[in-house]
Amino acid sequence: MKFFNLKNYSLIILNIVLFLWSSRFETCHAREGHQWRLKSKFPHGSTAGSSHQHPTRSTMSKFPGNNYMWADETMSTQKKGSSKAFNVLEFGAKGDGKTDDSEAFGATWAAACKVEASTMIVPSGNVFLLHSVSFSGTGCGADIVFQLDGKIIAPTTPGAWKSGLLQWIEFTKLNGITIQGKGIIDGQGSVWWNNLPTYDPEDSEGVVSAKMPGTKPTALRFYGSTRVIVTGITIQNSPQTHLKFDGCTTVQVSDFRAASPENSPNTDGIHLENSHDVLIYSSDLACGDDCVSIQTGCSQVYIHNVNCGPGHGISIGGLGRDNSKACVSNVTVRDVAMLNTLTGVRIKTWQGGSGSVQGVTFSNIQVSGVKTPIMIDQFYCDRSKCQNKSSAVAVSDINYINIKGTYASNPVHLACSDNLPCTGISFSAIELNPVQEDRQPFCWNTFGELRSTTVPPINCLQMGKSRKPVVTC
Ligand SMILES: *[C@@H]1O[C@H](CO)[C@@H](O)[C@H](O)[C@H]1NC(C)=O
Ligand SMILES: *[C@@H]1O[C@H](CO)[C@@H](O)[C@H](O)[C@H]1NC(C)=O
Repeated sequence: MKFFNLKNYSLIILNIVLFLWSSRFETCHAREGHQWRLKSKFPHGSTAGSSHQHPTRSTMSKFPGNNYMWADETMSTQKKGSSKAFNVLEFGAKGDGKTDDSEAFGATWAAACKVEASTMIVPSGNVFLLHSVSFSGTGCGADIVFQLDGKIIAPTTPGAWKSGLLQWIEFTKLNGITIQGKGIIDGQGSVWWNNLPTYDPEDSEGVVSAKMPGTKPTALRFYGSTRVIVTGITIQNSPQTHLKFDGCTTVQVSDFRAASPENSPNTDGIHLENSHDVLIYSSDLACGDDCVSIQTGCSQVYIHNVNCGPGHGISIGGLGRDNSKACVSNVTVRDVAMLNTLTGVRIKTWQGGSGSVQGVTFSNIQVSGVKTPIMIDQFYCDRSKCQNKSSAVAVSDINYINIKGTYASNPVHLACSDNLPCTGISFSAIELNPVQEDRQPFCWNTFGELRSTTVPPINCLQMGKSRKPVVTC
């Protein structure tokens, strides 16, 4: 009897501990407004990040997720309101949605940047109008937190943009930068998308109509930085790409939302270029272009538990434009739900390029009404006509595992280069049914293997290996 009492006692203790632990999570999520989803605390092989829409869990990933544990640890040790906190309101920001608060933000940054592990606070309950700003890390301490709980909006007058800019808000050359909070960055992009004349009070002519500049800015860009975290925030209505990383190492994006309408042109959700060790998870990406776009110079990219749509899917490329060399390797995309997107998982390269895409796994992708769920296009061309060229970006070792759902146009479209066939393309557990009309998979110069029967059958795949491309990247 004593034994049982002891056992019951420890069960009660265990229950109390579990209760306290889980209520900690709930508080956190109610605050972030993501109640429907449990935060994925353990990105690697965990099932906690699954949302209502997400497909079944995976145990297939071979990605070294342990590398990313530092990020969660960092976040849990950040304190708000400490002596290292710098609030934009204390540096003269008005937060009335009308006054240009760029200078106040610049002054706040100048102060916060000097202090290691400081926090710059953009408080809730305010709307801050910002012209283009660059938060430079030159001379800054490490591990700065940008606590964004308020809303930041972009100007909609052409005069505020002069002749046009590549980005609106930029963080550069930082060693440890976290943007966190429940805040919103709103690019007010409709004035750019529609290309309509806008009223510009800053124009010297006074009351006139003017058009926005031709160069549409990325909303938020990180350049040349290491250990970058973006978590909790929303970027909406971006004039162009929502969130961009260029030349960054060790990047983590989680509980992030990109939201722009389906018909907003060139509004990629997340755009990666020349970046390594990138982890993106538990995020909702709805936009008018690629949900995630992986460009040249990227490797060790891991994306999981993401909802994509509307949008163009998750894409590697277009690579090799204007005869350039492009290298992308070691990309894993798993547990992604795609709704009514243009493509699902896609690799696109221009003719005439060189370099390679290798070591890519797409697994547990749930598609609903996606036009073309699986696509390799080595004849990518965004003009009416592109010249045929013999060189190409080599595509090899691409694995498609457990890709299921419905397609609207073609289930599988694999168009590989005439001179450099795709090789090592493998398929298992593919089950794609038409929304309306049945279509057969298309392959051109594609070599690989079928590891299980597929629906529909991918009979056009040529078995075995083509000559392995010799590529130095
Ligand atoms: C890609 O992964 C392979 C195997 O783990 C590794 O040897 C290679 O260095 C990785 N490539 C890059 C560019 O990180
Ligand atoms: C390119 O090659 C394709 C296939 O061989 C051919 O149908 C097409 O007409 C060519 N295009 C041009 C611009 O030469």
